[in-house]
Amino acid sequence: MQIISAVTEMRDAVERLGLGGRRIGFVPTMGFLHEGHLSLMRHARTRCDCLIASIFVNPTQFGPGEDLDRYPRDFERDSALCSEADVDIIFHPSAADIYPDRQAPSAAEIPFACGLCGVSRPGHFQGVVRIVTILFDIVRPQVAVFGQKDAQQARIIQQLQQDRGLAIEVLVAPTVREKDGLAMSSRNAYLAPREREQAVCLSEALDLARSAYAQGERSAETVKRMVGEHLAGPDTIAVDYVEIVDWRTFKPVADLDEWSLLALAAVVGRTRLIDNVNLSGVEWPGFSLRSSTA
Ligand code: PAJ
Repeated sequence: MQIISAVTEMRDAVERLGLGGRRIGFVPTMGFLHEGHLSLMRHARTRCDCLIASIFVNPTQFGPGEDLDRYPRDFERDSALCSEADVDIIFHPSAADIYPDRQAPSAAEIPFACGLCGVSRPGHFQGVVRIVTILFDIVRPQVAVFGQKDAQQARIIQQLQQDRGLAIEVLVAPTVREKDGLAMSSRNAYLAPREREQAVCLSEALDLARSAYAQGERSAETVKRMVGEHLAGPDTIAVDYVEIVDWRTFKPVADLDEWSLLALAAVVGRTRLIDNVNLSGVEWPGFSLRSSTA
C-alpha cells in the first residue's frame, strides 16, 4: 500500500494506472475509519483493479462553530485499517495543496442541497461538492462508493455525476450499524456513556417507521409524528428535523410510496447525528449493493 500526500504525485500515479488500463475504485473519507467506511472499501474492491481511499478532513464543509478542530483523527490507525481492507493507495493531502485558489460552487448550482441538512448546515453541501469535484478530478475513478448513512450527500453526488456527465459509476452502499442499531459514525466517539445509551433511540425510531410502512401506513404526517414522539423521550436528545422525502427529488411528500426516504437529524448532548431509512426497502438506482460484507 502506498501513501501519497502531494496532489502532483497522486496525479502522476493515476496517469500511470490509466496508461496500464487499470480500473480505479475510489472511497473518499474524512478518516477516523470504522466498519462503515471499510464496507465501502470492500464494495469498491470487488469492482476495480486499483482501490484508492482518501483521508482528508475537509475544512470547507464545516460551518463556523462546527467541530472542524476537534474532529477525531488517527492516521496511523486509519492506514492500518486501509491496509487490511486491501487499499492500494491512500491519498492524504494537505488543505493547502487541495485548495490553492479554486472557487466554491454557489448553492444554486447544487440540486437537493436546500432542504434537510442544507437548512441546519448552510454551506455544508457546497463544501462537499467542492471537495468531491476536486478529488474526482485528481483521482479520476471509474467507480466511487458512498454510504447511505449520508443519504442527502449520496443523492447530491449521484446527481452531480449525471448533470456533469462524469464517466464515474456512483454507488450507494447500505448503512453499517452497531449491534444495538446505532449507525456507525466517526462522531459517535464524542458521545458520553449516557448519550451513547440514549442515541439508540434514533435507529429505534427508524425501525418504528419501517414497521408502520410495512403494516400499510401511508401518511407521512402520522409516521413523522410517531418518530418525533419516540425521540421526545430521552433527555439528551434534541430533534433537529424529521422529514420524509422522495428519493428522486428530495422533496417532502405527504403520501408514502416505494421512493420514500425518512431522514432525521438530532443533537445528542452536543453531538449532531443523522440517520435515515428507505421505508419500503425497494432498491433504488445506484443501490446495487445489498450486504455490507459482500
Ligand atoms: P465521512 O463522514 O468520513 O464518510 C465517508 C463515507 O463513508 C461517506 O460516503 C459516508 O456516507 C460513509 N459512511 C459513514 N458512516 C457510514 C456507515 N455507518 N455505513 C456506511 N457508510 C458510512 O462523508 C464524508 O466523510 C465527507 O463528506 C466526504 C464525502 C469524504 C467529503 O469530504
